Amino acid sequence: MSARAGLARSFALAATLALGLLAVRGASAAGDPAPARVAPTASGRCGVCHPADRVAFESSPHAREDVHCTSCHGGDDTTDDEKQAHGKGFTGRIDRASVPKMCASCHADEKRMRPYELPVDQYELYQKSRHGQLLAKGDRQVAVCSDCHGAHDILAVSDPMSRVYTTNVPRTCGRCHGDTTLVRQRHMHNAYAEYLTSVHAHQLFDLGNLRAPTCVSCHGVHGAAPPEVADVTKVCGRCHTTERRYFIAGPHAARMAANDVPACIACHGNHAVQASVPDRLGSNCVNCHEKGDALERIGPKMLADYRSALAEIDRAEKVIARADAVPMQTEDYHARVEEARTYLREAMTAAHTVQPEVVAGFTMRARSVAVEIQDELHLKFANARMSKLALIVFWFYVLVTVGILRRYRNRRPRERK
Ligand code: HEC
Ligand code: HEC
Ligand code: HEC
Ligand code: HEC
Ligand code: HEC
Ligand code: HEC
Ligand code: HEC
Ligand code: HEC
Ligand code: HEC
Repeated sequence: MSARAGLARSFALAATLALGLLAVRGASAAGDPAPARVAPTASGRCGVCHPADRVAFESSPHAREDVHCTSCHGGDDTTDDEKQAHGKGFTGRIDRASVPKMCASCHADEKRMRPYELPVDQYELYQKSRHGQLLAKGDRQVAVCSDCHGAHDILAVSDPMSRVYTTNVPRTCGRCHGDTTLVRQRHMHNAYAEYLTSVHAHQLFDLGNLRAPTCVSCHGVHGAAPPEVADVTKVCGRCHTTERRYFIAGPHAARMAANDVPACIACHGNHAVQASVPDRLGSNCVNCHEKGDALERIGPKMLADYRSALAEIDRAEKVIARADAVPMQTEDYHARVEEARTYLREAMTAAHTVQPEVVAGFTMRARSVAVEIQDELHLKFANARMSKLALIVFWFYVLVTVGILRRYRNRRPRERK
């Protein structure tokens, strides 16, 4: 770009700015109560002096739904005079302690929220949450509405850019629950750091599995509180229904509750839940039961059943691979080996009954399917070998017969001579 063109552009820009300023001045000088030269927006005239807040605010659905700067801050948004603008009912910077009540002025108002089908329970739940209880006692470090939603750039929950969109929730809570200074000061676990190491976070972030839990799946959205010991199985069981069903069917549920041991999390942890490792079944019980004790030995027994069924399934798969190499029809066998694996998975889940006979029920079915596959295929191999042998014998006889016949024919003319 030439120097002249550059100069011309700067000039044009300066001229535009000057004209714009004149326009604004003109409006206020005339004392126009409803300035016509600025497009009417939810920000009114506040946006003239607060352009950054205006931009943030106008990205929010609030700005489209009859919420104005004045709805939250009071004041007069029809004037460019600072004193007047900050006059009438102006609250200024909203103190943390008054944020929930201010948001609730609309969000707890049934009539106001009905058109949007938004629930109106956030404020009530919030007040009962640990955050709300501590805020009421003057604690300023706890979360208020604007910490989780923002103040101006509030977006709908379903907007992937929203602070409370499923995949953003852990980071939003993590601003405090992953703040190493804050958690140390307040003697909390670093829930965020622990969560990031979990199988749940792996599912959510790395595999995009939106069914995996975030902080609010286990703690509730606005009523954030740790689940009571008695409620833990319900929280985990919302998604892991089968594990919970087996757990409750066995003696552990009642015995652990009676001893105040928190069900699922005593063995899996709460935040850093790890992916399943079957071998842990053999080493888990000793954490609470005496080594060598009858109860302690149940785990290793269940694991032994599991392993022997697994070995049988592996063997069956090798035999199928041999059949595939022949090649032979094996589709049916692939399906059956999958069936055996399903029984085996169920066995691991059923281990939550801590009743070896329940587990053995499934491992035995898995084994028998795998053994059947092996037996049937071995029979087929044997038959194939037999028919191959028969074929060899058949051809052998054919060849021998032909040989004899030819020899007989060759000899005859000589005999005639
Ligand atoms: C003529 C310009 C002007 C207009 C119009 C204006 N403000 Fe301000 N506002 C200011 C200035 C200047 C400050 C002081 C900034 C600072 O202290 O950082 C301020 C501060 C504020 C603060 C922070 C107060 C605090 O205690 O820190 C809020 C909130 C605010 N304005 C809201 C509004 C709202 C809402 C409107 C419209 C009803 C509005 N303003 C209109 C110029 C204006
Ligand atoms: C939904 C309610 C709501 C609306 C609408 C709203 N604000 Fe605010 N505003 C807040 C809250 C809450 C805070 C305090 C923020 C905090 O503590 O993080 C705040 C803070 C501010 C501040 C102080 C900012 C700072 O960084 O110190 C200014 C200035 C302000 N708002 C101006 C505006 C203007 C101008 C508009 C319209 C364009 C507007 N607000 C619309 C809720 C709102
Ligand atoms: C600790 C963080 C946090 C606080 C504090 C908080 N919210 Fe929320 N809020 C969320 C999350 C996360 C969601 C999204 C829930 C979901 O995925 O369904 C949400 C959803 C919402 C919704 C959407 C409707 C709904 O219930 O699904 C509204 C409205 C809302 N919050 C308003 C508020 C108000 C008002 C306050 C203060 C009284 C507040 N929130 C305090 C985290 C918070
Ligand atoms: C003047 C009334 C009013 C005030 C005050 C207000 N809101 Fe809203 N809010 C609304 C309306 C109306 C909607 C519906 C917008 C829509 O669905 O398009 C809404 C929508 C929302 C949503 C999006 C819900 C969703 O997922 O669809 C959230 C989150 C929210 N508000 C949070 C807040 C927070 C936090 C505050 C306080 C800082 C607040 N609101 C203050 C009126 C208000
Ligand atoms: C602005 C900082 C902040 C944010 C954001 C925040 N929290 Fe908190 N939270 C706190 C503080 C501080 C406490 C009080 C801890 C205590 O008991 O001393 C707390 C307490 C809790 C408790 C109760 C702990 C107990 O021991 O009783 C739970 C549960 C909780 N938060 C969950 C969440 C969830 C879930 C989110 C995100 C949706 C979240 N918090 C976002 C600061 C925050
Ligand atoms: C899979 C469920 C689950 C998820 C996901 C989860 N939590 Fe928890 N959290 C729990 C359970 C259960 C407890 C109670 C532990 C206990 O009683 O020992 C707890 C306890 C807490 C506590 C109080 C314990 C303390 O350190 O004082 C806080 C704070 C907390 N969680 C915050 C979070 C945050 C923040 C996230 C997201 C980063 C999160 N949790 C994710 C289940 C979960
Ligand atoms: C919102 C649903 C949800 C909640 C609540 C939940 N989980 Fe999960 N969990 C999942 C999903 C999804 C996966 C990954 C897919 C799978 O293996 O089922 C998973 C995986 C797991 C795994 C690893 C399974 C494997 O095969 O590797 C364990 C262990 C686990 N969760 C335990 C828990 C515990 C303990 C709790 C309660 C503290 C809990 N979950 C709460 C959804 C949830
Ligand atoms: C006594 C300890 C213990 C308790 C209590 C317990 N589990 Fe497990 N859980 C295990 C062991 C051991 C395994 C198998 C090895 C592994 O996955 O680490 C397992 C495996 C799992 C798996 C993955 C394997 C599968 O297919 O089931 C999930 C999911 C799971 N548990 C969820 C739960 C839930 C939900 C609860 C509460 C209802 C719970 N567990 C209670 C010890 C326990
Ligand atoms: C987190 C601790 C914990 C772990 C790990 C644990 N248990 Fe237990 N278990 C208990 C408690 C507590 C009781 C009740 C003890 C009592 O009544 O003296 C109990 C009781 C039992 C009972 C019932 C005994 C009766 O009297 O009815 C069986 C069976 C049992 N456990 C098996 C197991 C097996 C198998 C494992 C390993 C897979 C295991 N437990 C791992 C804590 C645990």
